Parts: sequence; C-alpha cells; structure tokens
Amino acid sequence: MYVCICKNVTDHRIRETVENGARSWREVQQLTGCGTQCGKCACTGKDITREAIRDE
Ligand code: FES
Repeated sequence: MYVCICKNVTDHRIRETVENGARSWREVQQLTGCGTQCGKCACTGKDITREAIRDE
C-alpha cells in the first residue's frame, strides 16, 4: 500500500530500505523521501520503519 502519496513510497519500499541497511526513520526519510513534503504520512512511515527494524 502507498504510505506516502507525495513521494510515491509504499510500505514495501520502506521495508526494503531497512533490509538494505537503514537504521532509523531519519535514514528512511533521506533515502526514500517519505514524509519530506506535506508530512501527513510521517506517523505511519515511522511506525512501519520501527516495525521493520524490530523484525530484522
Ligand atoms: Fe508523505 Fe505527503 S504523503 S510527505
């Protein structure tokens, strides 16, 4: 599903970014652009990032 409409970022993309080494929400933001425009997706993006890091 799309998490970030502004930057076209899916939950899959966030998980993939963590699998590829991102270790924080900030890093995911820098690498995907998620949450860097209107900011509405930040809570969801952060939750998915935390979950993905926990599952690593
Ligand atoms: Fe993600 Fe706007 S929906 S920055």
